[in-house]
Amino acid sequence: MSGGTESERASFSGRIGFVIAAAASAVGLGNLWRFPYLTSHYGGGIFVVVYIIMALTFGFSLMAAEIAIGRKTGRSCTRAFRDLSEKHGWIGALAGIVPVLIVPYYCVIGGWVFKWFAESASGGLSVLASDGGGFWWDYITGGAEGLGDPFVWFGLFALMCTVCIAAGVEKGIEKMSKILMPALLAMIVIITAYELTLPGIWDGVAFYLNPDVSKLSMGTFLGATSQIFYSMSLAMGIMITYGSYMRKEDSIEKSVRNISMIDTVVAILAGLLIVPSAFMFGFGDSQSMGLMFVSLPQVFAQMPGGSIVAPVFYLMVLFAAMTSAISLLEAAVSGFVDRFGSGRRKSLAVSALVVAGLGALCILGFGPLMTDLAPFDQGAGWLGIFDTVTNSLLMPIVAILTCAFIGYVIKTEPIEDEVEACGNGFRSKGLFRIMIRYVCPICLLAILVFGLADMFGLFSVY
Ligand code: PFF
Repeated sequence: MSGGTESERASFSGRIGFVIAAAASAVGLGNLWRFPYLTSHYGGGIFVVVYIIMALTFGFSLMAAEIAIGRKTGRSCTRAFRDLSEKHGWIGALAGIVPVLIVPYYCVIGGWVFKWFAESASGGLSVLASDGGGFWWDYITGGAEGLGDPFVWFGLFALMCTVCIAAGVEKGIEKMSKILMPALLAMIVIITAYELTLPGIWDGVAFYLNPDVSKLSMGTFLGATSQIFYSMSLAMGIMITYGSYMRKEDSIEKSVRNISMIDTVVAILAGLLIVPSAFMFGFGDSQSMGLMFVSLPQVFAQMPGGSIVAPVFYLMVLFAAMTSAISLLEAAVSGFVDRFGSGRRKSLAVSALVVAGLGALCILGFGPLMTDLAPFDQGAGWLGIFDTVTNSLLMPIVAILTCAFIGYVIKTEPIEDEVEACGNGFRSKGLFRIMIRYVCPICLLAILVFGLADMFGLFSVY
């Protein structure tokens, strides 16, 4: 069954369908763009080790908790918290705002990826690499081709996501994920393997993975931990929503292990694909958004076979961004359905309008609506504001509240019972309890406080 009304909740076809759709949500720009530059910034291999440990403990517990809340209540976040405790529905309402604010700017970036794919596939790699990569800034500010072009690619990207959501949970999201995810995995393995055959690349691999223990610091832990909840799609209602479409007989524990493994492997492969080649062609320090749109076209332009690697790479990024945007849009839509009791179609139409409106604000924010709203915009205009408000403020707050709610209001037992409902027990129950009650809230509080201090220029551990 797909689509779904109040009485007949849509569902994934089974555990594999659920795992693929949730992994497709998790694997996104966070893995392909953010993880590689964080790894080079925080000391290579040592960051990877810390990241894996935190994914298996912190990420595992938060994801299991969110999926269990969704499955137990059969609701998305805007109703799930209220169903568990009448007085605490506001936590879910707060969580429900997050995807609504993220999906528009995520679609704007998706539009840029679409453009970079189309341009590199039609022989325009030299255009993307021109002017020392300055093309990117010219393009997004309208100097290169006017602002109409970014609008077209953004619209196309958002439209494809909308069509997928309109097709329903099983026939839309699951089917799309089952096509795009294996294609993405195949592409990343093939182009990484090819790049590792290039002469001189292994110095870059050593730079990427060599564990620099001297760089192990508070910043490494905080950087890894905040990347986990960005990358695993936590604290934004997605996993609660997807959990509500999961069948009772499927194992939450096993599924979470599979999802986090796929997510982590893709992130590490993406780093192996990007960092050594950027290093080899002299872009070792490239960080932030510029890496994907500024440095990489120049790297591909110099690389033997780069005119083939580039379109394959951007197609892969496009698939990853699209399945993540689809999950964000689904969380927004089902949040509206469960909060206001509106039908799926109407909720999708409202969500699409919000995406169009806020997305337009992000695009125009690089043109006529460019405003200096530091420290919130972090140099990326309105897009930066939405990113900062959600990732640095709302998401840690929602995650802290979720832990406090489970750990101290309803207590962990109902959630543990839900994990055990498939009949396979809950092997990591002890770990889960300690993480949700003590470790996760402390780590999250640290992310919030140090993040704010950094943003306002008080002090920095990053
Ligand atoms: N987990 C996805 C990614 O890593 O790109 C999707 C995502 C959603 C990332 C929301 C970040 C975010 F704020």
